[in-house]
Amino acid sequence: MPAPTWLSDAVLYQIYPQSFADSDGDGIGDLRGITAHLDYLAWLGVTAVWLNPCFASPMRDAGYDVADYLTVDPRYGDSDDVAELADQARTRGIRLLLDLVPGHTSDTHPWFVASANDPGDHRYIWADGGDQGRLPAGFVRSPGTRPGGYRPNFFDFQPALNFGYGRQQEDEPWRQSVTDEGPRANRAALRPIMDHWLGLGVSGFRVDMAYSLVKDDPGAAETARLWREVRGWLDRAHPDAALLSEWGEPAVAVPAGFHADFFLHFGGPDNGRPLRSLWWTGAADNPPEPGAEPCYFDAGGRGSASPFLTAYQDAVAAIGEPGHISLPTANHDFDRLRTGPRTPEQLPPAFAFQLTFPALPAIYYGDEIGMRYVPGLPDVEGSVMRSGYNRAGSRTPMQWDAGQNAGFSAAPAAALYLPIDPDPGHPTVAGQQADQKSLLSTVRDLIALRRAHPELGSAGSLEILNDGYPLAYLRGGRFLVIINPSDRARVLPHDRPDLAGATAVRHTGVDVDRASITAGPFSFGIFRL
Ligand code: NOJ
Repeated sequence: MPAPTWLSDAVLYQIYPQSFADSDGDGIGDLRGITAHLDYLAWLGVTAVWLNPCFASPMRDAGYDVADYLTVDPRYGDSDDVAELADQARTRGIRLLLDLVPGHTSDTHPWFVASANDPGDHRYIWADGGDQGRLPAGFVRSPGTRPGGYRPNFFDFQPALNFGYGRQQEDEPWRQSVTDEGPRANRAALRPIMDHWLGLGVSGFRVDMAYSLVKDDPGAAETARLWREVRGWLDRAHPDAALLSEWGEPAVAVPAGFHADFFLHFGGPDNGRPLRSLWWTGAADNPPEPGAEPCYFDAGGRGSASPFLTAYQDAVAAIGEPGHISLPTANHDFDRLRTGPRTPEQLPPAFAFQLTFPALPAIYYGDEIGMRYVPGLPDVEGSVMRSGYNRAGSRTPMQWDAGQNAGFSAAPAAALYLPIDPDPGHPTVAGQQADQKSLLSTVRDLIALRRAHPELGSAGSLEILNDGYPLAYLRGGRFLVIINPSDRARVLPHDRPDLAGATAVRHTGVDVDRASITAGPFSFGIFRL
């Protein structure tokens, strides 16, 4: 079945629940806080929200270490709050998606605790100690009475659930087949979990590390088989629900059963280069490697749009009709759009690109007002990655207004999940709502334009006229889009009579005449032909 129509037209918004709105004054965001701000999201025009995990967890990886898939962590509320949020959102035309973490649990999950004490249990991947009790590379010593150790999926405290291996090997007996008992039990466990939340009014899931389930799986063949099976069930049992993968390779993930896959800063044959080449600047905590190519949305205009556009076009060709590519501004793992050297004036052309491009736009909370990546924060709930990159900079509380803690929480500042951006000039929703020229007003206007004209959405055709500076493309044969992310005016000669009479729908310093297009510094233009 093709993707549900609501998804095809969706403008997605990602909420990191810890940091959006705190309704009970404990310094951490919660579900009721989100419900209380649904009018804002409806005003902004987004049509689907995905939440990072909100399930019971020791929170050593911000909730990606699930201890109970069917219970909401008390700091966020309870199941009734999820149902209420889904319901209230739906009345405003907004769908709610949760985050499913199928590849691993917390090491405190009862399944793992049982497994660590029962050598006959294979829900996780266990290896014996071998010679002198030495564990195979990458395995972590058992915390229970069971000898040997387990294979983690991300951090050591996130044991991989056993979905089997694509290839068996005699000298590695822990490589079970996908049809063995443990892998079958884990596969079977996915449906009741999904069923439970879908039954409460949720519209689908973002699926964490969706690619990671079957280990040593050439071509992801077995992992894809597993997801296609899940998708078959979903099509029958919940045809209106959607699955969005964290895979980073839409050409593989959509044929594997997902309705959409995020283009990410990692994954794919080119290890995330397409999205990095678009707008990754590198934070102080995560500087670009020496000699790395600047991204296309580089003020100096030294980048190229073609790695992104080529990867996009290749993925579209591989996917065909049944699914989508989602283009995020950022997420909780990566730099915000406004990171490091990027200044606020660079943001409108980036949003104009995202919101007129034939992919599902996903706005990371706060990017719509230009919240910045805050460098130098402590490690909070596993925010520091092995590489040393600190994700906390992209996870600071939403800046609502000029009140206490930027309107995020009534708790004392010291009790906040993460500090508010200390920059006294930090942007806020209230400040920008009052200003017609603000980034927020621009983003809202661009969303409205996209929603009013299907040619600008995921289904309209795309014809690239220029992939240098400025970027120029046609949407649905009816709209001309010009994007200049650089700090200099750019002139693009053209010899197309159909562009000569283009009338501006929105523009910030772009002019189209008979023979050329002139785009001022950091400008965008949307023209009707
Ligand atoms: C990807 C998630 O986005 C990230 O935040 C998390 O740490 C890992 N998966 C492990 O679940």
